[in-house]
Amino acid sequence: MALVTMRQLLDEAAEGDYGVGAFNVNNLEQVQAIMEAARETESPVIIQASRGARKYSGDRFLYHLMEAATEVYPEISVALHQDHGNSPETCKSAIDLGFTSVMMDGSLMDDGKTPADFDYNVRVTREVVEMAHDSGVTVEGELGTLGGIEDDVGSGEVILTDPDQAVEFVERTGVDALAVAIGTSHGAYKFTKEPDREVLAMHIIEEINERLPTTHLVMHGSSSVPKELVDIINEYGGDIKPTWGVPVREIQEGIKHGVRKINVDTDLRLAATGAIRKAFAEDPSEFDPRYYLKPARAAVQEVVKARMEAFGQAGHAKDYDPISLPDMAVRYKEQGHQLTVT
Ligand code: G3H
Ligand code: 13P
Ligand code: ZN
Repeated sequence: MALVTMRQLLDEAAEGDYGVGAFNVNNLEQVQAIMEAARETESPVIIQASRGARKYSGDRFLYHLMEAATEVYPEISVALHQDHGNSPETCKSAIDLGFTSVMMDGSLMDDGKTPADFDYNVRVTREVVEMAHDSGVTVEGELGTLGGIEDDVGSGEVILTDPDQAVEFVERTGVDALAVAIGTSHGAYKFTKEPDREVLAMHIIEEINERLPTTHLVMHGSSSVPKELVDIINEYGGDIKPTWGVPVREIQEGIKHGVRKINVDTDLRLAATGAIRKAFAEDPSEFDPRYYLKPARAAVQEVVKARMEAFGQAGHAKDYDPISLPDMAVRYKEQGHQLTVT
C-alpha cells in the first residue's frame, strides 16, 4: 500500500524544490493513465476527486479504483485528495472513505458558488483542520476566489488573495496547504491572449511565500490549454474557441516560490476528447468502447507525463517510505497543527 498523506508528499517536494501535479479523476481510464505516467516517470502523485467526480463514479467505485491503483503500483507514493470540499460534512465523508487529504474550500459558501467572508472561511476551515488532523489527514484551504465555473464549482468572480489575510488565515486555521487566487480560473477559457504578469499575478505568490515560507502553496486552474490539444478537437469536428491557459514556465516560476501542488484537470479532458473524436472520425464503423477509450487513455498519460517532468516530480517516487495516518495524527498532536517541514 503506497497511499501517503499529502502533507508528507508536499514536505518532500519542498525539500527537493519541486512541484507535484494534482490530477482529477472520474473513472478507470483516468486513474490508469495517471498511474502509468507516474510509473513511467517514477513520480509521486496526487489524485483528486471533486464532489462531482464522487457523484459520477460513486464513492465505493472510486475507493476501490484507488485501492487497485496502490496494489498495482506499489512503488508509487500516491495521495488521495478531496478537491473543493464545500463543507466540513463533505470533508468528513472523504476522510471516512479513506482519502489522505481534503480541501475545505471556504472561499465559497457551501453552495460552491457564493463568495464567503473571511470569518466564515476561517471558521469552517479550522473545524476541518481539527477533525482531519486528528486522523492524520492533510488539509488545504483557499483564500480568494478563482474565475470560471466548472459544473458546480466557482462563483465566476475573481477575488485575488490578499497576502496580509493569507498570513492571518494560516495562523488561525492551521492549514497544511493554501490555495491562492492569482487570476486563473477553472476550465478551458482562462485568458483571451497569452497571459502576462498583469493578468497572471505571480507577484502574489512571491509575496505570500516570503511571509509564509513553510506553507505549501497550491495553484488551481493550472491547465495550460495547449493549442495542439485544442487543434485536434477542432480538426475532428469540435468547437473550442481560441483561448489561453497558464503557461508551464509560469508554473515553474511558482514552484521556485513555494508552489508545491498544481491542479490540472482541463488538459486531461482536452487530451481525452481529442483522441476520442479522432478515433470516431477515423473509423465510423467501430462501436467497441475500447477502440476509442484506449487512445483516450494514452493521450491522457502523455499529457500527465509531460506535466510530471515539467513540475520536477519525476524521479522522486521512491525517495521515502509512507508515514501512516495514525503516525501523522501523533505528529499533529505533538507539534501542533503547523508541523515543521521535515
Ligand atoms: O474544480 C474543478 C475541477 O476541474 C473539477 O471539476 O467539478 O467538473 O469535476 P468538476
Ligand atoms: P483546470 O480547469 O485549469 O484544469 O483546473 C483544475 C482545478 O483547479 C481543479 O481543482
Ligand atoms: Zn480548483
